Amino acid sequence: MRIYLDNAATTPICPEVVEVMTQVLKEDFGNPSSIHTEGRKSRSKIEMARKQIATHLNCSIGEIYFTSGGTESNNTALKCSVRDLGVTRIISCETEHHCVLHTLDTICDCNEVEVILLKPDSYGAIDLNELETLLKDDSKKTLVSLMYANNEIGCLIDFDKVAEICKTYNCLFHSDTVQAIGHYKIDVEKTPISFLSGAAHKFHGPKGVGFIYINSENIIKPHIDGGSQERKMRGGTENLYGIVGMAKALDLAMDALEERQNKIVEVRNHLINRLKESIDDIAFNSYEDERSLYTVLNVSFPPSDKSDLLLLNLDIAGISASGGSACTSGAEKGSHVLEAIKADPKRKAIRFSFSHHNTKEEIDILMDKLVALYPKELVINP
Ligand SMILES: Cc1ncc(COP(=O)(O)O)c(C=O)c1O
Repeated sequence: MRIYLDNAATTPICPEVVEVMTQVLKEDFGNPSSIHTEGRKSRSKIEMARKQIATHLNCSIGEIYFTSGGTESNNTALKCSVRDLGVTRIISCETEHHCVLHTLDTICDCNEVEVILLKPDSYGAIDLNELETLLKDDSKKTLVSLMYANNEIGCLIDFDKVAEICKTYNCLFHSDTVQAIGHYKIDVEKTPISFLSGAAHKFHGPKGVGFIYINSENIIKPHIDGGSQERKMRGGTENLYGIVGMAKALDLAMDALEERQNKIVEVRNHLINRLKESIDDIAFNSYEDERSLYTVLNVSFPPSDKSDLLLLNLDIAGISASGGSACTSGAEKGSHVLEAIKADPKRKAIRFSFSHHNTKEEIDILMDKLVALYPKELVINP
C-alpha cells in the first residue's frame, strides 16, 4: 500500500468524477459548436458546467472561461492585462509560481512594463503596508498579482484585504487561486477581484483543464485566435469531458468543504506533533496554524548526511512526498520559494501535502519510516 502525500502537485481523481466523465465519453461525441442534436447536447453540458462553477464563485456565467489549466489562466490574465487593459506596472511577489514569474519575464522582454516583486518574510508573508505605499504612486496603470496560497510552503495572503487595497487604489487584482479553489470558499461578489485562476487536478478533477474568472468590467481580446468557442475568447474545440469532470469535482469539493477541511487539519496537526516529539531540531517553512493552506506542510529537517536521500528513501518505503513544486522537482535547480524566504540551504525541506483520503494512521507509518531513516542522534527517545 502506498501513502500519497503530494496532493499539492496533483490529486487523485474522485470516482464520481470518473463516472460522469466516462458517461460523457461514451455518449456525447458531438462537437459543441455544431448546431445539430449531438452538438447541442455537448454544448448544453458545457454550459451546465459553467453554471456550476459560476455558482460556487458567485459570479455570472459570462465571467467564466474554460482553459487548459492554471498555467494558461495565469498567462491570460497577465498578458491580456498588458495588451488590452493598458497595464504598465505589475506588482507581484518572488514566491509566485513559475507560470506567473516566467510570464512576467516574457512581458518585460516585449513591453515597457515595470515589474516589482515584493520580498516575503521567512514564512512567505508579504508586507501589506509596503504594497499600499507602492500603490500610492498612481502614475501607472497597475495590476497586483498575488497568489491566494503558496504551493510550496502554503502561506496564505489576506485575500479580502489585498482585494480591498487594490479597490481603494483603483488597480486591477489577479490572484493565482490554483491551490485554493475547492479548499476555501471564494465569493467574488464579496471580494472584488479582476481575474482568478483554477485547475481541476488540484481538487480531485482531471488534468489539463481549468478556468479563468474574468470580471465583466475587464474587456480583453481573444488570447487564442481561432473559432468562436468560449465567446470568441479561446479558439479550439472544448475539452468537453474535462470540463464536465471539473465541474463535478468542484461540486463535490464545495459540498464537503468543511468535512474535508476538518479531516485534513487533524492529519496535518498530527504530523506536526509527531515530528516535534520525534525528531530533534525540527522546524517548519510553513505556518503551523490557519495562516497556512491546510493541505500543505513544508518541513525543515536538521542537516544530516541522510537528508539528501530522504525523499528517495521515502519513495522506496512507499511514501510519496516532494521537495517543492512538481514543476521544479525534476530540475537540478533549488526552489526559488525557499531561496526567497531565505531558508537555510543546509537543512532539508520536504513538502507533505494532504487530501481528505489521508489518515492519522498513514502519518504514524510515515513517522516510523522517518525515524528509521534519520540518524539516531537526531531522534528523540529512539
Ligand atoms: C499555485 C499554482 N499555480 C499554477 C499552477 C499550474 O497549474 P497547471 O498545472 O494546471 O497548469 C500550479 C500547479 O502546480 C500551482 O500550484
